[in-house]
Amino acid sequence: MIKLKDINKFYVTGDETLQALKNVNLEINKGEFLAIMGPSGSGKSTLMKILGLLDKKFDGSYTFLDKNISSFSDDALSKFRNEKIGFVFQDFNLIKRLSIKENIEIPMLYRGHRIKETKKRVVELLKKVNLESKINKYPTELSGGQQQRVSIARALINNPDIIIADEPTGALDSHTSKEIMGMFKELNDEGITIILITHDINVARQANRVMSIFDGELKEGEF
Ligand SMILES: Nc1ncnc2c1ncn2[C@@H]1O[C@H](COP(=O)(O)OP(=O)(O)OP(=O)(O)O)[C@@H](O)[C@H]1O
Ligand SMILES: [Mg+2]
Repeated sequence: MIKLKDINKFYVTGDETLQALKNVNLEINKGEFLAIMGPSGSGKSTLMKILGLLDKKFDGSYTFLDKNISSFSDDALSKFRNEKIGFVFQDFNLIKRLSIKENIEIPMLYRGHRIKETKKRVVELLKKVNLESKINKYPTELSGGQQQRVSIARALINNPDIIIADEPTGALDSHTSKEIMGMFKELNDEGITIILITHDINVARQANRVMSIFDGELKEGEF
């Protein structure tokens, strides 16, 4: 499903160059639940942005669902990303002035669906994350765990093949973390490929496969 080959990523600022990824090779099969672990500054978010088709400025080759990413125009890549990938972030990234319903339907409206279709889908997803009663509330009226469940619903709205989560439990207490991890496991059982980025070994161990990144180098297993 995903194949990264000899990926190198350089950040150039002024006359300084920093190599954030060093010869990264990675293959992910459909249906995997993979955790990528590493300390602060090791290159996790850099790798996530490349995997998530948010950054195509890198050396090496990236094949996603049999397509070579470097051959895409920016517009085609955005469309492809919106259809295939759902994102979940540490700080939930919900829009405060929009209701829960509006937050969840945003990615679907981008695709040109009509309002009536999206409403049905939003209700379906809110049921799935047990938040049906919150449909007309606003993000600030929800707890952290509830906001993260909303962001999972949003990530699911276009039926993605893959979910990429960057520290999804980073802002949550241990009980709520467990609940969110349980939700990822369920989604994985339904066939969605999951890539979870974390610095927490106890979270990483709940995945089926663990990889570590250290100073831009990725390897199989724990440190
Ligand atoms: N836009 C940028 N310009 C220059 N350097 C950057 C940029 N983004 C990241 N870096 C550098 O690349 C390295 C990897 O950063 P990255 O954000 O991928 O780390 P991380 O593993 O996600 O860390 P954290 O756990 O703190 O989120 C760091 O040394 C960082 O300073
Ligand atoms: Mg990061």
